Amino acid sequence: MLNYEDALRQYGTPSYIYDIDVLKERVKYLQNKLGQKYDLVYAVKANTFIPKYIEDMVSRYEICSPGEFQICNALKINHQKMVISGVYKDYATIDLLIKNYSDILKYTIESMEQYRLLNDLTQKYQRPIHLLLRLTSGNQFGITEDEVIEIIQNNQNSLLTIDGLEYFSGTQKHSLKRVEKEINYLREFVQKIEEELNFPINEIEYGPGLPVFYFQDDEFNEDEFLDNVKNILDTLDKKVTLEIGRSIAASCGFYLTKVVDLKENKNGHFVILDGGINHLVYYGQTMAMKIPYYEVITNSEEKSETITYNLCGSLCTINDILVKNLTLNKLNIDDAFIFKNVGAYSVTEGISLFLSRDLPKVIIKNNNEYQLVRDNIATYKLNFPKAVRSDNDGKIN
Ligand SMILES: Cc1ncc(COP(=O)(O)O)c(C=O)c1O
Repeated sequence: MLNYEDALRQYGTPSYIYDIDVLKERVKYLQNKLGQKYDLVYAVKANTFIPKYIEDMVSRYEICSPGEFQICNALKINHQKMVISGVYKDYATIDLLIKNYSDILKYTIESMEQYRLLNDLTQKYQRPIHLLLRLTSGNQFGITEDEVIEIIQNNQNSLLTIDGLEYFSGTQKHSLKRVEKEINYLREFVQKIEEELNFPINEIEYGPGLPVFYFQDDEFNEDEFLDNVKNILDTLDKKVTLEIGRSIAASCGFYLTKVVDLKENKNGHFVILDGGINHLVYYGQTMAMKIPYYEVITNSEEKSETITYNLCGSLCTINDILVKNLTLNKLNIDDAFIFKNVGAYSVTEGISLFLSRDLPKVIIKNNNEYQLVRDNIATYKLNFPKAVRSDNDGKIN
């Protein structure tokens, strides 16, 4: 049994708890399995509340927007660990970064336009920077092989040092064959650049898209999978850094939500929870037919009859179902659920503005203490037309 009941009593629901002991153990596990040779890069987008706690354990942070930079900067993440990435690098932000933060580790190049932008701004401020060229996997991200070659051949700007390549093709990659294919592709492309252009590729930042298995009947031998990933990476024989979000962050997160209503009709029993798909994102959940890892916290002593329930959230959409046909001891209002493995993306990808419901609290559990790091936030204020604001901002008095 998880020991988060005290947090449930103290803070209520809906809430996320991020357990820093679990997080640190997870990073240690990944580092051990993948080998000390591979530095870990934490992709901040997975969870913006936890970066600081792993600062000594990861070599870099992948920052993909001005907002992510603001967060990491406010958390006093060392600039020498920051890789400024992302498909849209706006002029104002990059201008500010190059002018004011000469200690930023690297920037990625996702387009010819971005290359020109960084070229111009380094000239403007006479500030040297380091680059990784993001090779596309055929979607809107990155640049083509020809564009990589064009930049390498024509880069006359001594302020721009091209360190190597970045490559990320997608998340939740279960297939070792796919990882192998990507690594083979990178090896061949790197060889081509080194031999034909006589240009050294000193490093590759690779996103393996390591999968997380969220559902109880998923079968996955993670130890074996990671051993195989490591063996495949070893064939590259290069300095490789691994950009990882989901697999680092998922297991440290717990989502607390309580039963606020119970009802029955001809189609079954329905539980209404005070949070749902606006706060919980399980990748690949097919119509709530799969059962995630969870625990029920009940105040009732009696072991009564069992009932098959549909667990629903509080949104006005029939899609807001967390689990269908789950057989449990009879539930009561105020019983609570703790859903596990919600540390990655739920907090950043949930459709949190729908129905103008409050954002969950965020609680950090660290050194056996809880800290409320974000209170519930009322989203109705964000969905409110400023021009017709009333004196009380629409608040119910
Ligand atoms: C460029 C890049 N690197 C790394 C990641 C992290 O992927 P994952 O969470 O699958 O580890 C992402 C996720 O979108 C990404 O876009």
